[in-house]
Amino acid sequence: MGHPDQLAIVPQPASITRGEGYFQISQDTVITTAHQATATGAFLAETLAPALGFSLPVLIDDIHPDQPAITLEVNPALASSGSDGYTLKVTPQGVSIRGSSPAGVFYGTQTLRQLLPVEIFSSTPVNREWTVPAVTIEDSPRFPWRGLMLDTARHFFPKEEILKFIDLLALHKMNRLHLHLTDDQGWRIEVKKYPKLTEVGAYRKETVVGHAREPQGYDGTPHGGFYTQNDLREIVAYAAARFITVVPEVDIPGHARAAIAAYPELGVTGEQVDVATTWGIFPYLYQPTGKAIQFLQDVFTEVMDIFPSRYIHVGGDEAIKEQWRASTEVQARIKELGLKDEDELQSWFLRQIGTFLAQHGRSMVGWDEILEGGLPPDATVMSWRGIAGGISAAQAGHDVVMTPTTHVYLDYYQSNDTTEPLAIGGYLPLDKVYSFEPIPDVLTADQARHILGAQANVWSEYIPTTEHLEYMTFPRAIALAEVAWTPQAQRDFASFRQRLATHEARLQSLKINFRPVAKLDQEQTFPPRSKPGS
Ligand code: ACM
Repeated sequence: MGHPDQLAIVPQPASITRGEGYFQISQDTVITTAHQATATGAFLAETLAPALGFSLPVLIDDIHPDQPAITLEVNPALASSGSDGYTLKVTPQGVSIRGSSPAGVFYGTQTLRQLLPVEIFSSTPVNREWTVPAVTIEDSPRFPWRGLMLDTARHFFPKEEILKFIDLLALHKMNRLHLHLTDDQGWRIEVKKYPKLTEVGAYRKETVVGHAREPQGYDGTPHGGFYTQNDLREIVAYAAARFITVVPEVDIPGHARAAIAAYPELGVTGEQVDVATTWGIFPYLYQPTGKAIQFLQDVFTEVMDIFPSRYIHVGGDEAIKEQWRASTEVQARIKELGLKDEDELQSWFLRQIGTFLAQHGRSMVGWDEILEGGLPPDATVMSWRGIAGGISAAQAGHDVVMTPTTHVYLDYYQSNDTTEPLAIGGYLPLDKVYSFEPIPDVLTADQARHILGAQANVWSEYIPTTEHLEYMTFPRAIALAEVAWTPQAQRDFASFRQRLATHEARLQSLKINFRPVAKLDQEQTFPPRSKPGS
């Protein structure tokens, strides 16, 4: 038969063996499931129904050998072939998906969707034959953390867009949605005990126009919004049904201006500030005393109640220490605690929260600045300022998620075309994302086991709308999905690009405003841009 790439499965499976003939889905086809796969069976029926124009019945523990069937089952014995893996076998008689876990079954169904004609992604009935080529696919993820971070603080995105993103992550077998929920320019999570966090902190009076380094004034338009706890519970449940964990981030001790605008007593100076209206790094830190720590423990208590994720992100990035250095009270605190400097104070501060999370059975994740002043015990590090922080953390026996600016910052320009929308700066074309290797050569095999995976980050300073958000995210996030899922030996940009050209029809049906792959052909004709915001 043809080259396996003609199947256009993204991310590329570990192994594909083509067979003879095809299976045809018809009104007589049933989905049969064993217990642990039943929810995914119902989900598959629901996903296929709009394009098919009918819903396949889902039968539980009920095999009819004479009836054409899509059989889903969990078989832990398969786990030896990789956790969350699956085997998908299509013959003219039927489709069988066996997963080593319920997630594995789910991933098998995502592959099945991509084996069907691309019209299966239509939201309205399509009158055609629904054939699936005979094939055997053995597949499992390379890494357990296949993530995307969305910054909801710089610009607020409605719940519906988050749900749409979750569907897209699921389609590409990604399993972590990291929500950046608090920052200087907005606080986006309802906290019952501190209502002013959203009453005050969720809104800014206006937003800088143009690049913050060369501002062209302010727009005079208030911006804001927040997720209620009910919204977030709905997001968590929607994600869980798609085997995605939502990892919440409340950033401490810096990026705290919106919280301090709401409760000035949490800040170092007690000064009343407003929610930031421009981008960059601000000096406002939480004060390192009992009051702020009590506040944060209360906030994280509500966060843990909403988000079942074992991983809770505490930020830790870009906390410039000038206010801590200038404050006689903070300096006295450093002495009282027997610490050397502000870095050790940050480490102490994070440890107060890390210990609190651990007492509740959770573990702390932080940006790589949490290495400064001593890494809190059991912390997982997100290496963003390159991979050096990730290497040190892994060498010290800590888990790591690789998210370096050089390869996975989707707020950077994806082309040198001067008609691209304003971005924060940088240059990160699709092939560079695709080339990312999460495991640095310098790590031993034992240390490399601490690399949980990779994550793309979408910071939203220069991304004011959902259309723009999709444009920056896709297809680069799909390249990252393949980096995190597909065995290294199977990765090939030319093949990815070819599959993506077919895959675009699916994204189109899903009404995603992606950047077309055809635009890549022009890239050589553009000179490098001269300055970040240009
Ligand atoms: C970051 O980009 N400040 C983590």
